Amino acid sequence: MSLTIDGHRIDVLFSETEIRARINELAGEIAARNPHRLLVVPVLKGSFIFAADLIRAMHHAGLSPEVDFMILASYREGTRSSGKVDVLRDIESVVKDRDVLLVDDILESGRTLAFAKDLLAARGARHVMSCVLLDKPGHLAANIKSDFKGFDCPDRFVVGYGMDMAHQFRELPFVGHVVS
Ligand code: IMP
Ligand code: MG
Repeated sequence: MSLTIDGHRIDVLFSETEIRARINELAGEIAARNPHRLLVVPVLKGSFIFAADLIRAMHHAGLSPEVDFMILASYREGTRSSGKVDVLRDIESVVKDRDVLLVDDILESGRTLAFAKDLLAARGARHVMSCVLLDKPGHLAANIKSDFKGFDCPDRFVVGYGMDMAHQFRELPFVGHVVS
């Protein structure tokens, strides 16, 4: 399916219905690990809608996580990662001896998640896991693999469901590809 929004043609890659079903499965996969004193850390901004839906699905899967937020800026040249990551907002929670689940929109070079994982591990987290909505193959630069992933993503620039292109399209309830 294809839509025109603000003069851009956007092809739907993952629909609202598909995303909802997969998130319910993901919450079940996470619950099956029986996490200890779970702290969920959405890496903002791109993960905010995914995290909100995943956290509610976790409730239905029997989990009662705490939630804290981290804002990271991974600098990009055009649409590709440059490698530098800055903390714009840190979590307030103490992670020592807790299981932490980082939640992000896309794993591409992996630098953002690897950075966050190292930071929380250095603070004494018991286990730092990660859950990404999309795994984009072929650009991995850091030594990281997500513990949980929603979908494999084609190697295209995607928007919607929290993800933007130049601050646009975060509100779309599906994940799409900007064709033109
Ligand atoms: P990396 O894994 O450190 O390279 O960066 C992943 C981050 O880059 C994601 O969390 C997104 O914020 C952003 N990103 C990568 N690919 C896309 C895309 O196709 N659309 C929107 N944002 C993207
Ligand atoms: Mg991001």
